Amino acid sequence: MRTIFVLGPAGSGKTTLTHKFGKYLEEAGFKVTYINLDAAVEHLSYEPDFDIRNYVTVTKLMSEHEIGPNTALIKSVEIMAKYKEELVKFFSNAELIYDYAIVDTPGQLELVLFHESAVEIIKTVKGRACGIFLIPTDLLKTIRDLAFLKLLALAVRYRLDIPLVTVLSKADLAREMKLEITEEDFYSLALDGVEMDLTTELWSVLRKLEKRQRIIKVSSVTGEGFDDLHTILYEIYCTCGDLT
Ligand code: GTP
Repeated sequence: MRTIFVLGPAGSGKTTLTHKFGKYLEEAGFKVTYINLDAAVEHLSYEPDFDIRNYVTVTKLMSEHEIGPNTALIKSVEIMAKYKEELVKFFSNAELIYDYAIVDTPGQLELVLFHESAVEIIKTVKGRACGIFLIPTDLLKTIRDLAFLKLLALAVRYRLDIPLVTVLSKADLAREMKLEITEEDFYSLALDGVEMDLTTELWSVLRKLEKRQRIIKVSSVTGEGFDDLHTILYEIYCTCGDLT
């Protein structure tokens, strides 16, 4: 079974992609199981086979402990880790039945990245897991946004230590979006006040990324990019790992 963690900033389209890409895989003849790890979500467009809200919800934590939403979100991730064994059990049963497990992660990306408990959960399936990192079109207005989000995707990959496909989500909202950064583009940012030394260092990282990391445009509304996404995921599992 191939386990795909759907990651991204709040509102980037994780839940919708989980649902629509899952359906796409099912229509292609694959057996897909859906996992929800977002304890704060109220409505899901798909029916999860494993739902963390059966163990913990942010709303309940807020009222039981009289705490605010942010503290409750952090607490929910800590509690989630206590149910790791349930998830491990679920994965080992699902292994025998399904081709793909799609995991919808918490709305706030920082919950996944900053808290060891969330990383621990991903480690339970590491080796068979990969991630889809969503960069929503709405966040991309300038080359600096694009450069920042590409570097963030790299940091996410480093943090979680799983192969990661970077996807521009909601592509139907901006079909003509430029996805490559040239040296000229990047150095023009230095004129805006970014230190030249930092620009030089970052460009050396980005230049390598530009050569190796293909970003694909995906829309969960039109299904654009799903074929490409499927091909890249297939390649990852076939070649054992390198996502570039
Ligand atoms: P949180 O878990 O709350 O952080 O959100 P999320 O990342 O799961 O995003 P979600 O799937 O809830 O989508 C957020 C909003 O974007 C919703 O209004 C979706 O209908 C919309 N949306 C998601 N995918 C697409 C897409 O491909 N195209 C367009 N136009 N809208 C989309």
